[in-house]
Amino acid sequence: MLTVFIRHISSLDSAAVRPKSSFPTKQTVEINAGKLNDGTLMAIKVLSAQSEQGVREFLSEIVTISGLQHENLVKLYGCCTERDQRILVYGYLENNSLARTLLGGRNSNLQFSWKIRTQICIGVARGLAFLHEEVEPHIVHRDIKASNILLDKDFKPKISDFGLAKLFPETITHVSTRVAGTFGYLAPEYAIRGKLTRKADIYSFGVLLLEIVSGRPNKNRRLPAEQQNLLEVAWTLYEKGKLVQLVDNALDGDFDTDEASRYLKVGFLCTQELPKNRPSMSTVAKMLEGEAGVDEWAISKPGLLTDIMTLKSSSSAPHASSSATSRTQDKSSSSESTNMSHATMTFSSIYDRN
Ligand SMILES: Nc1ncnc2c1ncn2[C@@H]1O[C@H](COP(=O)(O)OP(=O)(O)O)[C@@H](O)[C@H]1O
Ligand SMILES: [Mg+2]
Repeated sequence: MLTVFIRHISSLDSAAVRPKSSFPTKQTVEINAGKLNDGTLMAIKVLSAQSEQGVREFLSEIVTISGLQHENLVKLYGCCTERDQRILVYGYLENNSLARTLLGGRNSNLQFSWKIRTQICIGVARGLAFLHEEVEPHIVHRDIKASNILLDKDFKPKISDFGLAKLFPETITHVSTRVAGTFGYLAPEYAIRGKLTRKADIYSFGVLLLEIVSGRPNKNRRLPAEQQNLLEVAWTLYEKGKLVQLVDNALDGDFDTDEASRYLKVGFLCTQELPKNRPSMSTVAKMLEGEAGVDEWAISKPGLLTDIMTLKSSSSAPHASSSATSRTQDKSSSSESTNMSHATMTFSSIYDRN
């Protein structure tokens, strides 16, 4: 028996729940904080089961994450179904998501030192390397982005939100699938041809890495057009030999220049247009840890979906249309609700089922 007090920790705009575009939209209804009888804090994720997709995302999260334990993945404690809602119970992460804190502007007072940023990048890289290379069948997360990286009280990162994840049996290297994910983090080959491999996650990780080092989101529509896209800005600075200028001003110069430059180059490698030119996640983790070299890898301009879509706009219909931006607005930027209510629910613990 789980007795919970419920407080909204993420209020979601209704647009996120009602599909409008060609991208499947998420079916999360709300995320609440709760407490076990022994005082342990939990995060309670309520998914709609009114649609087939809601049920699919619920099952996908359970199947994917329930058997996995890694220090850089969220821990699923249990699940339950009540009326037409499906509920997942996770360990509560005190420092919320990178989208809300590091990229959340004035909404957060947390300070992200250079050291903390490197540890976050390495942790996420290790978590993804585990999903891609150690788990059988391999798992492609499909929605790596700042709002799906949660931080515990010590800023240790945890990859969360496995609603879109796909399992890859050993014999299968790629699947052709309907595109799901978040514009801005989508690898071009996946967005345009629906070709999904682990390299699509690696591309998203590269975008995330640049966001962590620069402290800005991959798209900022409030800036002049030529500065809106982080990858473009980064590449322009790289060509001018001024890449280090991309590092977050909030650090006030308090960072290791060589290390920062290495991190940004890894970001470029992960976002190369050709998937085969992107290193595997275990190699990426080693590069970030300083145990594998970066300079022997050729770096060319990262693959940008906007460039490619402009080129292809006159050709055959792509999977992702430029209007498919339903998830570009991060829900985590919506105002935090302080609604409180109480509930008691029964849930089956994942760890009871052996
Ligand atoms: N375990 C957790 N601890 C703390 N906050 C969480 C937790 N899980 C989710 N959240 C918050 O809720 C947001 C949405 O959760 P997520 O699982 O990504 O659902 P979805 O993207 O389907 O809405 C996260 O970005 C984060 O702000
Ligand atoms: Mg999410």
